[in-house]
Amino acid sequence: MNSSARHGKDRNSMKALVFHGCGKLTFENRPKPKLVQSTDAIVRITTTSICGTDLHILKGDVPGITGGRILGHEGIGVVEEVGADVADFRAGDKVLISLISSCGRCSFCRKGMYSHCIAGGWQLGNRIDGTQAEYVRIPFADTGLYHLQTGADEEAAVMLSCILPTGLECGALNGHVTPGDVVAIVGAGPVGLAALLTAQLYSPAETIMIDLDDNRLDAARSFGATKTVNSSDGKAAQRVMELTRNAGVNVAVEAVGLPAAFDICQAIVAPGGHISNVGVHGKPVELRLDKLWSANITLTTRLVDAGTTPMLLKMVQSGLLDAKKLVSHRFELAGILKAYDTFANAAKEHAIKVIIRNAAPS
Ligand SMILES: NC(=O)c1ccc[n+]([C@@H]2O[C@H](COP(=O)([O-])OP(=O)(O)OC[C@H]3O[C@@H](n4cnc5c(N)ncnc54)[C@H](O)[C@@H]3O)[C@@H](O)[C@H]2O)c1
Ligand SMILES: [Zn+2]
Ligand SMILES: [Zn+2]
Repeated sequence: MNSSARHGKDRNSMKALVFHGCGKLTFENRPKPKLVQSTDAIVRITTTSICGTDLHILKGDVPGITGGRILGHEGIGVVEEVGADVADFRAGDKVLISLISSCGRCSFCRKGMYSHCIAGGWQLGNRIDGTQAEYVRIPFADTGLYHLQTGADEEAAVMLSCILPTGLECGALNGHVTPGDVVAIVGAGPVGLAALLTAQLYSPAETIMIDLDDNRLDAARSFGATKTVNSSDGKAAQRVMELTRNAGVNVAVEAVGLPAAFDICQAIVAPGGHISNVGVHGKPVELRLDKLWSANITLTTRLVDAGTTPMLLKMVQSGLLDAKKLVSHRFELAGILKAYDTFANAAKEHAIKVIIRNAAPS
């Protein structure tokens, strides 16, 4: 008798966190995923996490997601099984899962816009079942997975599934951070903090973090932010203008996904500056072209392409980027509803990034 049968567990079923429409999550039994395409892999999840985007999904801000979807696009795991056309991975390999699936061949992939891959893109926990489960099916495994060295720190590595490439690509790179710049980041959640850590690679003179949560602002200062502004009084823009002697900022990163945060960016961007939007927005924002038409600014939006993941992985592995310091809480998979509660009430719980572990089957 095998061990799972001995424990009365059905080998074809697994535990998973399932979205059932606005505000409704359950932790339930679901069928274990199977290979569908020859380019798929099945991965047993050992570490996953929750992204601010999952909170937007819960609020109904990502309407394409149907009820019954297993959430999650971040994860570390061990390959269980691969399809016949997977070349670089074998059962037993320890892997980092990227949130982006890419065929590598379509016109978008050839331009490096993997997030818009015609056959892939942001699939996990969105168009197909995600990583907040015991097992997940990974399409295009050769491009969606990365080998991890034995003994690699899983908590640091899981920051590479989404938030570090997002902070770098959608925030710092789209914002064209250059040496000496004044950079403001609205939102000091995991993604805003990842934008801070990656913007620092380009030597800005000042980094101003703006949030409603003093605990997250304290974290930002400990990560090297030069100034912090609590925006609870609605006067963040005015405060940033004072801090910059009315010059404004060269780069304003929106890492919240709310009109109020986008408005701060519009009010503080300097002539010739950049607004790089990272946040997932569920409501329209008012674009203040009456103020900005003559300001020579650029406004960028982006769904993370995750093309920088191999570079960021090297930086995390070499210790150049300390990703683990973003971790504030740890849960077992069975406690994932509590993990959601903690992350959704980050200010009260003093939470930054929550880690969810799934112990090896006994
Ligand atoms: N573009 C992409 O590809 C991509 C990828 C990942 C995440 N995201 C988005 O990035 C955003 C941030 O993600 P996260 O995981 O850090 O989320 P989070 O919810 O943990 O953090 C958001 C932070 O914004 C702060 N905030 C809320 N209202 C504010 C206001 N008016 N002014 C200043 N701060 C305010 C909150 O206190 C919180 O600390 C989310 O919108 C998420 O969906 C986008
Ligand atoms: Zn994410
Ligand atoms: Zn493609």
